[in-house]
Amino acid sequence: MYMSTDEIRTAFLKFFESKGHQIVPSSSLVPANDPTLLFTNAGMNQFKDTFLGIEKRDYSRATSAQRCVRAGGKHNDLENVGFTARHHTFFEMLGNFSFGDYFKQDAIQYAWEFLTKTIGLPTEKLLVTVYKTDDEAFDIWHNTIGVPADRIVRIGDKEGGKPYESDNFWQMGDTGPCGPCSEIFYDHGDHIWGGPPGSPEEDGDRFIEIWNIVFMQFNRQADGTMENLPKPSVDTGMGIERIAAIKQNVHSNYEIDVFQQLIKQVADNIGVDDLGNQSLRVVADHIRSCAYLIVDGVMPSNEGRGYVLRRIIRRAVRHGNKLGAKGAFFYKLVGPLAAIMGTAGEALRDQQTMVEKVLKIEEENFGRTLERGMVMLEEALDKVQGDVLDGETVFKLYDTYGFPADLTNDVARERGYRIDEDGFEAAMEAQRQRAREAGQFGTDYNQAIKVEHGSDFCGYTGTEGEGSITEIFVDGAPVETLASGDHAVVILDHTPFYAEAGGQCGDAGVLITEQGRFAVTDTQKVGQAIAHYGSLVEGQLLVGSTAKAQVDAARRQAIALNHSATHLLHAALRQVLGEHVAQKGSLVRPDGLRFDFSHLEAVSHDELKAVERIVNEQIRANHSVQTDVMDIDAAKQKGAMALFGEKYDDKVRVLTMGDFSIELCGGTHANRTGDIGLFKITSEGGIAAGIRRIEAITGQDAIERVYQQQADYKAKLDDAHGKAKALEKQIQQLKQKLAAQESAGLINQVRELNGVKVLVSQLDGADNKALRSMVDDLKNQMGSGIVLLGNVADGKVGLIAGVTKDLTGKVKAGELVNLVAQQVGGKGGGRPDMAQAGGSDVAALPQAIQSVDAWLAERL
Ligand code: ALA
Repeated sequence: MYMSTDEIRTAFLKFFESKGHQIVPSSSLVPANDPTLLFTNAGMNQFKDTFLGIEKRDYSRATSAQRCVRAGGKHNDLENVGFTARHHTFFEMLGNFSFGDYFKQDAIQYAWEFLTKTIGLPTEKLLVTVYKTDDEAFDIWHNTIGVPADRIVRIGDKEGGKPYESDNFWQMGDTGPCGPCSEIFYDHGDHIWGGPPGSPEEDGDRFIEIWNIVFMQFNRQADGTMENLPKPSVDTGMGIERIAAIKQNVHSNYEIDVFQQLIKQVADNIGVDDLGNQSLRVVADHIRSCAYLIVDGVMPSNEGRGYVLRRIIRRAVRHGNKLGAKGAFFYKLVGPLAAIMGTAGEALRDQQTMVEKVLKIEEENFGRTLERGMVMLEEALDKVQGDVLDGETVFKLYDTYGFPADLTNDVARERGYRIDEDGFEAAMEAQRQRAREAGQFGTDYNQAIKVEHGSDFCGYTGTEGEGSITEIFVDGAPVETLASGDHAVVILDHTPFYAEAGGQCGDAGVLITEQGRFAVTDTQKVGQAIAHYGSLVEGQLLVGSTAKAQVDAARRQAIALNHSATHLLHAALRQVLGEHVAQKGSLVRPDGLRFDFSHLEAVSHDELKAVERIVNEQIRANHSVQTDVMDIDAAKQKGAMALFGEKYDDKVRVLTMGDFSIELCGGTHANRTGDIGLFKITSEGGIAAGIRRIEAITGQDAIERVYQQQADYKAKLDDAHGKAKALEKQIQQLKQKLAAQESAGLINQVRELNGVKVLVSQLDGADNKALRSMVDDLKNQMGSGIVLLGNVADGKVGLIAGVTKDLTGKVKAGELVNLVAQQVGGKGGGRPDMAQAGGSDVAALPQAIQSVDAWLAERL
């Protein structure tokens, strides 16, 4: 009986619901607060702390359809995608979980009932494995379920491997919950090559593992030792695509409904006829991981998770190119995918436009270098001697054309070569640092100290409290007494100190006991405990004694203002830029705040101003900042924004500021928005493709900044004034110099009229002061004579006349200047030897100047 992928998902969740399991939604592909894991790679990830007994939930049985990515981390399938019938970068894992509730018996029975009854798989097609020494599981399969002994395979540890290194021992990562497992295989029939698990042909496609039941018993430590979990538990995982293949009577996952529709879409978009083309499979697989990674907040970048995403996108683009795609094609698959994913497509449908934009930009960027890179790669492959492409070339392709090494390897592999990975690594000298940063995954910071006791946080309403010292650590080791000025970590059973979380930094302050004082410089969460980091400043500290805990209240208040302002900023950004703005990270400190969010272009000056204005309006509205504790579902119903990468308990704190902002938040806040006083943005910039960062300050800091800015402006203004004055003076001096030079030229124009030296001339752009000194100069040089200069500056006429004393009896400068002035719409006058006038009719000046000779001739 045919079942669609969507029907299988629903049937599975309903089946386990009917067995008392809580249906839990898929968590994000970015594991919440778990630095040991690159991407969510199994259904159990979101329950890790529940298995470890650190986190309590209202239920002890759960079921989910979890989206998973296995690329770039411990479970990495990227390079196999397209080459086998069942490897994917993205898949959905159906699972049922018991947290110290049922164990092997029920887990096995449920699996068998679902497979053989609910979805009707023939029992004779099924085969199971157990961990070599797990007689209990063998017994249940054989005696309770009735599987013949020859269809139960015992699988031990790998030859030459470490203890528990086995296909039948499952571990989430290098650390964390793990245990022996039992797997169920489906026999696709002897027309397909392959052998049963444990046989030399097990890698064939005939016997496919469909369900893994893990009997969670241990917590693997960083040093490899196994600690018992508080209670034996169950974690199972079934790849939905594999079950769909069986129920749809096909033997490759790529032939199931979801992939057939996707492949058809890719083929139509690019114009490919051969639907069996391997590259179509690669593209269809990759659009799923890429789209959902972006939905879950990963952006293409050159490090960590973002680089894995970039590698998958580029691999897809290369395969599209191989299929003959012209221009960007990958992003066009987002819409069809959202529809094809059925009930699992909702998250994608909500963010479709944003995902399309991010992919399009990334695709276009890579598209620019892809072809040139391919030419270089083809040429290099033609020249290879042997079967290994050298690391230098791989590096050059990476560095110049943005070819990730696995992409180059992919192309090389198609042509029968492989790449020199060590050589590539060696050539990556400059990029090493980034690789190291990406490598931060894998260190579990909480392993540094082992805390036995938990702590209650009592600091939401105040900054002082009292608690008993339960543990003290020096250099990671527990001590009973802290006696000298050592750096240490102190755990209290109750404390008002806020441990760093949700972007808000940890509190600082002091712990006072009868015996001594301990200065706290930072507070961090370690498991369920609140750890005070600092050093002893006086006396000594003893485990068991009571400590007065005093948070630095002024610092806490500054943090609170910044935190509340962060919520206002978030809401204002969504108002101004759009609903696609989602928080990608934040840092709230006493001296300011930092807010990272998804947005594809720089925020303009006007938009920043609008955001700042809105936040300040909301501050002045003086909303009371309200906190309510409620069920997560009720909170979501209320429209509370949940934040990226945060893990929430079933009971959550909902923070409301008027009707402007409502968010889930565990941090500490101002009482009223008015307390923030003033909000000022100090910077805006991009930190990765599609992610912007705003930095801002609040309260007294913001006010001080305004004062500082004013002082800076005034200083700048004074400086500019001083400079302008100096320049003006320089100009004056230059003009006088110029005038002197010009009058030196003018002297050549002196003529004789009736035996008297006469100079009549027109100038351009001289100023009045310069004209006067020019005339003085000319008079001196002539000894005896008459000068008239007409000058045009700034659209006006300036006139000046000079007559040496010996001639003033015949010609008066005032009259002379007036003669010309009258003709250019002005009037003038002055002393007999020097007179000035102005006029407005510039066009009449040449004519007026010409009239001077006749007038003078009458008088001389
Ligand atoms: N966590 C187990 C797996 O991923 C079920 O196979």
